[in-house]
Amino acid sequence: MPNAPYLDASVRWRIQSGQVALREPRYREVAAFLTEVGLATEVLRLIGSGKEADVYLGRDGSSLVAVKVYRTYRTVNQVGRTMKLDAIGHLASWEFELLHYAWSDGAPVPRPIRREEHAFSMQYLGNLDRPAPRLKDVVDIDMAALAPRVVGGVERLVEAGVVHTDLSPYNILVDRMTPWIIDVGKCLRVDRLGAPPWLKVHQAGEALAAGARHLARFFGSRGVPLDPSELLARWGQRIERFGGFDPR
Ligand SMILES: Nc1ncnc2c1ncn2[C@@H]1O[C@H](COP(=O)(O)OP(=O)(O)O)[C@@H](O)[C@H]1O
Ligand SMILES: [Mg+2]
Repeated sequence: MPNAPYLDASVRWRIQSGQVALREPRYREVAAFLTEVGLATEVLRLIGSGKEADVYLGRDGSSLVAVKVYRTYRTVNQVGRTMKLDAIGHLASWEFELLHYAWSDGAPVPRPIRREEHAFSMQYLGNLDRPAPRLKDVVDIDMAALAPRVVGGVERLVEAGVVHTDLSPYNILVDRMTPWIIDVGKCLRVDRLGAPPWLKVHQAGEALAAGARHLARFFGSRGVPLDPSELLARWGQRIERFGGFDPR
């Protein structure tokens, strides 16, 4: 059994008893699961695949939905250790909750629909032929007009109390000139819940600085110069109401 030393007793028991498989479920099995739990009435195809999750296009009755399915088994996570299966459901519920929190406050994130176990459905961005492209892939678009919209979208998210810790042209989709911020699973909630506010504010500052650098580098390469420290100062002002932020 691979990685046996890292699996705790309850997970090992579930593998031995056949409750969980050691291999990733195949497409058909995922599709059957999603329809069975009611996240989609039909699964059309896989539209995205990242480090931890796969995203499917499906139908929910007459509307199209995107369904993000966290993998139930994997050998490494960000800290280089195997993740316990139980924690994977937690990732989906955390991302779903953050999406809900940001969306209800009017931030430009896909509307969350429903979560079941390690998967959740949300508003699909795109059309039947193709999903909305990632910012890094957009072509034939007025970048100078798009840049302020992207910067404003991030500002709106920060204003909602959510700071993205993986902000890059990979996690922004562009649907007819409208930017949408996705992959909010590792966002920080910059309010007074959980960790001490000063710690959150410090982490938020670091995350925003990295996001500002990524976006400035991207737009710079497309001929639209942006100053990362100006972006940081502008976004930083928006978290001030959550406890103060002093951009360096
Ligand atoms: N709501 C959505 N509508 C359309 N496509 C989406 C949607 N959410 C994700 N995708 C596609 O799936 C890919 C992976 O989604 P993401 O949430 O970034 O997952 P990961 O955590 O694996 O990076 C994205 O790059 C995008 O192409
Ligand atoms: Mg992503």
